[in-house]
Amino acid sequence: MKRRILMAAGLSSGLGLIIPQHSRAQAPRTLNLYSARHYKTDEALYGNFADLTGIKINRIDAEPDPLVQRLRTEGDKSPCDVFITVDAGRIERAREMGLLQAVNSPVLAKAIPAHLRDPDNTWFGFSKRARVIVYNKEKLTAANGPKNYEDLADPKWKGKLLIRSSGNIYNQSLVGSILAALGPEKTEAWAKGVVANFARSPRGGDTDQIKGVAAGEAELGVSNTYYYVNLMRSKKPEDREVAAKVGVIFPNQANRGTHVNLSAGGVAKYAPNKEAAVKFLEYLVSPTAQKYFADGNSEYPVIAGVELSAELKSLGTFKEDQLNARVFAQNNAEALKIMDRAGWK
Ligand SMILES: [Fe+2]
Repeated sequence: MKRRILMAAGLSSGLGLIIPQHSRAQAPRTLNLYSARHYKTDEALYGNFADLTGIKINRIDAEPDPLVQRLRTEGDKSPCDVFITVDAGRIERAREMGLLQAVNSPVLAKAIPAHLRDPDNTWFGFSKRARVIVYNKEKLTAANGPKNYEDLADPKWKGKLLIRSSGNIYNQSLVGSILAALGPEKTEAWAKGVVANFARSPRGGDTDQIKGVAAGEAELGVSNTYYYVNLMRSKKPEDREVAAKVGVIFPNQANRGTHVNLSAGGVAKYAPNKEAAVKFLEYLVSPTAQKYFADGNSEYPVIAGVELSAELKSLGTFKEDQLNARVFAQNNAEALKIMDRAGWK
């Protein structure tokens, strides 16, 4: 995910300048948001919340690990109310460090499917992305390509696979989900098979793997859906050409389903404005907010009935792995060790 490292304390939407009638008599209500997401549509997302509630959002944008570190260092003096990140693995780390608090909201419980939120209600998924197989359309068809993640280890794909490094959390989460499905021995054998099929030593992000597949450097690649859809929706014709050369396979449709990951958020342990924080999380599952939140990065909303972009819709529907995100997130350390032993750079 492309995130600007931007310390933007106090930054809020221009719409925040309109002071709602009901808040004039009292001190302005604010919500302090630590966010590892930054998209253009987020401005509208936050501005709309200010219009609806009179609560102004002060946002601090940074990379996820420094944000977790900051929360930890600030301790009970932290001004953070809500923490938002991408990948369940990262927000689960914040939970494990005791940086989040449980929120028992019937609104959130009803809106968000159980596998997309922490069973202890410390974090909730607000948009989702699938980790899919991409293929070069000139060399393969969906019918003769791999059907399952497991197939990526098949020797028939030797030298034909592009996937980013094991240091990437999306891969760690994917392997965490495979670990839950297959157990450690089979997962390690799989990882070794995958490494044996690499077309090159891993480098670059998911978009680079898609571009490599489009350029014919390999027949297959692995990517989150939004990187592919963002290429489809790009203003640059060369990006759209890349997307046009590549097809998408949703793996494991005949069994457990395709691995999905999340953009997730939770209320900070020492949130000074807890009521506003809960209100904000509940706002995020409203149809309007879901549209902004998901569409800003071409992700899938977590609630049903939200209109998708034509490009995302063109990928079709798919069966998703119902494994709770906390399980694959907790498998992170073991997944990483397995990838290391397999020689996955
Ligand atoms: Fe990303």
